[in-house]
Amino acid sequence: AKARRERRDRLHDLLDRAAAYYARYLWESAEAAGARDYLARRGLTEETLRTYRVGYAPSAWDKMLLGSRQAGFSEEELLATGLAQRSKQRRGSLYDRFRERIMFPLANARGKVVGFGARAMRDNQPPKYLNTSEGEVFHKGSQLFGIDIARRAAARAGSIVLAEGYTDVLALHQAGVQNAVGVMGTSLTEEQARELERTARTLLLALDADRAGQEAMVRASRIAAGRRLELRVVGLPEGKDPADLIQEEGPDAVRERVARSVPFVAFHVDKILTGSDLGDAEAKDRAIAELRPVLGPVPPSVLREELIRRIAGRLDLSDQLAATLLEQSAEET
Ligand code: GTP
Ligand code: MN
Ligand code: MN
Ligand code: MN
Ligand code: MN
Repeated sequence: AKARRERRDRLHDLLDRAAAYYARYLWESAEAAGARDYLARRGLTEETLRTYRVGYAPSAWDKMLLGSRQAGFSEEELLATGLAQRSKQRRGSLYDRFRERIMFPLANARGKVVGFGARAMRDNQPPKYLNTSEGEVFHKGSQLFGIDIARRAAARAGSIVLAEGYTDVLALHQAGVQNAVGVMGTSLTEEQARELERTARTLLLALDADRAGQEAMVRASRIAAGRRLELRVVGLPEGKDPADLIQEEGPDAVRERVARSVPFVAFHVDKILTGSDLGDAEAKDRAIAELRPVLGPVPPSVLREELIRRIAGRLDLSDQLAATLLEQSAEET
């Protein structure tokens, strides 16, 4: 057990040093001038970037490798942390995994770095984001980007804001929404949901307002179901993410939208109404069939009445008829 703890501490130490190295490289190297410009153009301040320990990986193939070896770390440790990888040739040598990328350290709730998300600066340098590969210390599905920083604010507010991306979390934080974390993509996992549940009672979903993000919110609601999490949705302009909104309309715009979040069920009803063809009676019946299980768990309430009225309006039915059609029938329950 002691050996395992020592091993883990060394790997965390190596990852912390790597984060510090990349951060220093971002601020001090001539090579990172383009990256500093890029981040500034995206509206991110030095203070925000330093808070999240954002860095830059040099274009050389071995700077991390050489520096870490000099500090006494082995090749095996470099591989275990995912900082280096082995070339595919026979008796291949090691080289740095991250090169010419903006580095976002991924820390656990205690602030220990466990991996990186690394953004390309140009579109012709795929993938857009390169993560640390899954391994001994890094499990993407159990991480929430920014949890170490958001924790206190989330506990104080009783709510936590969930965004898709690294830049969304930074921009939200900078705009004063300091209880923001990132899922790093669109799929919320059970492990992430458990961590969110431990942190706050209310989960505000602020995923991208594009098709992938909207579908992901519905999936997230299934993951959150049965947990002590009240789910709400932050509405964003069509096609945008929180970072886009802040850049285009400023910090107040996103704070207002966070304050005007709606219950998940209202978002879901709107999503179904907007996405359905309501052209004839059969199409309306299909929409009703899709809406019925969504309204099912909503107890008699003003919210329920409002949703029913909205549905009735869109389907051109009386409120009374819509309410009847939306009741769960005996066979279905
Ligand atoms: P920006 O373009 O920098 O604003 O990024 P974004 O966060 O808006 O990207 P997007 O909405 O496309 O994706 C959301 C998140 O999914 C990103 O922040 C990443 O965590 C993850 N992601 C996106 N593209 C990739 C990819 O090519 N590979 C991996 N591993 N993750 C990705
Ligand atoms: Mn582990
Ligand atoms: Mn997206
Ligand atoms: Mn996005
Ligand atoms: Mn974005």
